Amino acid sequence: MNQSATHSSYSLDPCDWTSFRAQGHRMLDDMFDYVEHIRERPVWQPMPAAVRTSFRERLPLAPSHLTAVYQEFLENVLPYSNGNVHPGFMGWVHGGGNVAGILAEMLAAGLNANLGGRDHSALEVERQIVQWMRELFGFPATASGLFVTGTSMANLIAVIAARDSALGFDIRRSGVSASKKRLTAYASTAVHESLRRALDLCGLGSDALRLVPVEAGHRNKTNAQQQINLAALRHTIESDRRSGYSPFLLVGTAGTVDTGAIDDLDGLAVIASEQQMWLHVDGAYGALGILTPEIAPRLAGIESADSLAFDFHKWGQVPYDAGFVLIRDGERHRKAFASPAAYLQREARGLDAGSPWPCDLGPDLSRGFRALKTWFTLKVYGLEALGRMIAHTCELARYLERRIAESSELELLAPVSLNIVCFRYRSPDADRVNARIVVDLQESGVVAPSTTRINGDLAIRAAITNHRTSRIDIDALVDATLKIGRALTAHMEDHELEAACFD
Ligand SMILES: Cc1ncc(COP(=O)(O)O)c(C=O)c1O
Repeated sequence: MNQSATHSSYSLDPCDWTSFRAQGHRMLDDMFDYVEHIRERPVWQPMPAAVRTSFRERLPLAPSHLTAVYQEFLENVLPYSNGNVHPGFMGWVHGGGNVAGILAEMLAAGLNANLGGRDHSALEVERQIVQWMRELFGFPATASGLFVTGTSMANLIAVIAARDSALGFDIRRSGVSASKKRLTAYASTAVHESLRRALDLCGLGSDALRLVPVEAGHRNKTNAQQQINLAALRHTIESDRRSGYSPFLLVGTAGTVDTGAIDDLDGLAVIASEQQMWLHVDGAYGALGILTPEIAPRLAGIESADSLAFDFHKWGQVPYDAGFVLIRDGERHRKAFASPAAYLQREARGLDAGSPWPCDLGPDLSRGFRALKTWFTLKVYGLEALGRMIAHTCELARYLERRIAESSELELLAPVSLNIVCFRYRSPDADRVNARIVVDLQESGVVAPSTTRINGDLAIRAAITNHRTSRIDIDALVDATLKIGRALTAHMEDHELEAACFD
């Protein structure tokens, strides 16, 4: 058939595939160059006002040439990205992505699969990963799993499944206000904010989350990481029961967001079983520590969880986004989300076969092919190499800890449990000086840590998550922190701090 016979004038496909293909190859090459030479770029740089203004255009009613739009991308988008591909990025907990994942994203976009349901290969890829994760975390064959945006959504799905199990699935029709039970959930003070939000979003209210103090952990005496205090937890649950509440959910964290501490999951599993409560583990980034022999023993008990939330896009280095939730009792998971609809009829054969579908396990109906970039990443690199990479980021954290110990101008603010190091430059005005150091570091383009508060004190927080990070970047962080800290302190001595530094 000639082109005019196959090409509708309304189709968005190119008329000239040859030049489109050449442009596509250039774009792919440019992206490989970007990653290969990422060290030559700043980690992050502020966006100039003129560039920001370029994103305030009128609606693009008329077409533009692909090459022109790509040129805009090169000039206005690429240079001002978040920076987490760069080895000097150490803020929050951001993975670095990987090049096999870039290719998989392109393939997924080409297939344009909708993973809400139906019977097609993309769902088998997702099911393959569900099966691998059951195996990795010691969950039974009846456990269900689902790709979601991130751990915030995975936590919400787990909390909803736990809520409906506690109140009965009829609550989905009547609403939580129909129940007389006052449900309460328990987690340590180091729990991620997304859990509080999950309780809010599922109608139980964020006050339903009881925060239990932490104590120095017993499992690993060499670094006194802060774990949920199990005695205080028992006491709080029992006191709530006496006051008429219905404790239903325990949340353990495997890798707290501030310091990377891992709760005693075995201890939590014992309490959950005694108290007949649902045990959820937020393992946003720490759960994949199970791939390293050094961390796996500290995760003992994770296999007893009723639900586990984690991200492949953090330590797993899968390009954003790739969150995941695993639920021990797949039937309860389904009952918490499945909704019959005439247009979602299931059949034994044809495209409507293969029930249950992912849309039965979460709030999304249309879903992209997150599983493909994850499948490529796990298969191309292999779990052993990913485990070694994770162990290396922890080794870099210990190297940073040693560099801090060697400097009288720096102090460590929290024990180093995994890959997160919280420290500060010593100063009489430490909070303001360290906040300023972090902004200056980010704007320097050399390294980009973030901040948090440890016991009320502002900390420079380096989360070494990127597989490209090396000792060069750790040295750059320490050297630049000292340089900026000294310059700020010199200003202070000149009584110029207010005007010169914090305007
Ligand atoms: C412990 C913990 N839980 C939940 C989250 C939220 O994950 P996401 O950003 O993928 O929603 C994070 C993010 O860093 C985290 O560290």
